[in-house]
Amino acid sequence: MRRILAWLDDRVDLVGIRRVLLDRKMPSELTWWHTLGSATLTVFTVQVVTGIVLAMSYSASPDHAYDSILYLQQHVLSGALVRGLHHWGASAMVVLVMAHMIRVFTMGSYKYPREVNWLLGVGLFFIVMGFGFTGYLLPWDQKAYWATQVGTNIAGTTPVVGETLVKLLRGGTQLGAATLARFYALHVLLLPVLLVSVVLVHLTLVVRQGIAPRAHVLEKNAPARTTDPAYPAYYEETYAASKGEGVPFWPNIIAKDLIVATGVILVLLLLAHFKGAGLEPPADPTDTSYVPRPEWYFLPFYQLLKLVPGSMEAAVAAGLPALMVLVLLMLPFFDKRSKRMLAHRPVARLALFGVLGASAFLIGASVRDEPPAVPPEVGHPLNSVQRAGRALFKAQQCGSCHAVAGVSTPDKNSDVPDAPDLTDIGLHHSASWMHSFLEDPSRFHTDSKMPAFGPPTLSHEEIEEISQYLATLRGPHGDAKEPQFVDTFPEPKKLQEHP
Ligand code: HEC
Repeated sequence: MRRILAWLDDRVDLVGIRRVLLDRKMPSELTWWHTLGSATLTVFTVQVVTGIVLAMSYSASPDHAYDSILYLQQHVLSGALVRGLHHWGASAMVVLVMAHMIRVFTMGSYKYPREVNWLLGVGLFFIVMGFGFTGYLLPWDQKAYWATQVGTNIAGTTPVVGETLVKLLRGGTQLGAATLARFYALHVLLLPVLLVSVVLVHLTLVVRQGIAPRAHVLEKNAPARTTDPAYPAYYEETYAASKGEGVPFWPNIIAKDLIVATGVILVLLLLAHFKGAGLEPPADPTDTSYVPRPEWYFLPFYQLLKLVPGSMEAAVAAGLPALMVLVLLMLPFFDKRSKRMLAHRPVARLALFGVLGASAFLIGASVRDEPPAVPPEVGHPLNSVQRAGRALFKAQQCGSCHAVAGVSTPDKNSDVPDAPDLTDIGLHHSASWMHSFLEDPSRFHTDSKMPAFGPPTLSHEEIEEISQYLATLRGPHGDAKEPQFVDTFPEPKKLQEHP
């Protein structure tokens, strides 16, 4: 062993590598916050390993993607756990990258001489978001399909290049097989190569420049601006001094990183085991009644778009991300004051808490807006006629008068008469009764407050769709309870009287 090592050392300078990587001195009093970067790297490793396992049973075509995930979950050893790890790992990446950026921001570590590494970090952040966006589509379930539909639509509102951008993302005008193949290629080929390359440069710079010390260390007697010709010399001296009483990277810093890594992996395992990764019904491009929801880290942006008036939407959809990129990239260039502690940087403080507060508010608002996850009537999946009926039920605003399982969408401007609750209407009336009733309720009750939906309001086909849907409403018991129809039809005479 010794001889092999000596042989290797002779050729690749192991001792030199060790000196550069492990023996380097770090500023003392690094905080636990300084472990966030390495924690991100840990999760990335988890993503690579679980991603490879997932790719082994995944098939990137609309016909097979969903089934391949089902197969993985049900028949591959620990398949569900691996998928859970990858799912939660994705969120963890976003959380950790953001936390790491916030740490660097609050400690002013993006200032001289680490501007370039900040830029690389911003690049990494967007690559991670790209992973999230492309990965979301891959299970090809309802959530995946409709969230990507919305996401690509938003890209389409970009002025001038919008249309081209959508075509580029979707691989055509429609979301389909080409999109899935494209997203998969980006997710497993392009983005990983990009991420690994940028991370390598990022880490090389960290090793070369050393970790930034705590903010107050670089404030004492510092020239006011980092552009001051005296600043580099001041920096060298102070940084060297901070390392004078410093700690070695190995084992002190590594130990801390390892503790955090173990904790992070443990949390991921718990989440993957107990919560797993959800899977909704397979994507159904005809089900326009599905309410799409993006992954949580896109929620603030998504919610904001819902709040701005329609005429402003395009501007915000394209402008805000562009502005964000610009501000993040320009940050080290317009902030040249040498102050690093957040306490001494009022504008930075305001910006940080402003952005965090606004995001929290928007996430909160969108959680409040959330429609009930599963329509209450679904004891079994609806067929396409019933789904069309459900969509019409919404479009015709039946819910403005009628409640279904406690959900109604009262229209405050109209003076709504007391309408029966339809939660278990399917237990009391047959679809054919519903059909004649909807056509013209006044045939049934002369003073009915229910509007007639017969032609020209709705076609017979549409009324049939709603009726089929209503027949599926069986209340909390679902299909378990046998319907007892109490259909009574108006006298034929009365029918004739009606024009
Ligand atoms: C303006 C309020 C209003 C709207 C909108 C409305 N309804 Fe009604 N609906 C009523 C009222 C009031 C009754 C009870 C009156 C009656 O039985 O004739 C009723 C009765 C019904 C019944 C019979 C319930 C029972 O137990 O006898 C059904 C089924 C029904 N509505 C379905 C619908 C559907 C489907 C839509 C949408 C296409 C709709 N309603 C839209 C007010 C409304």
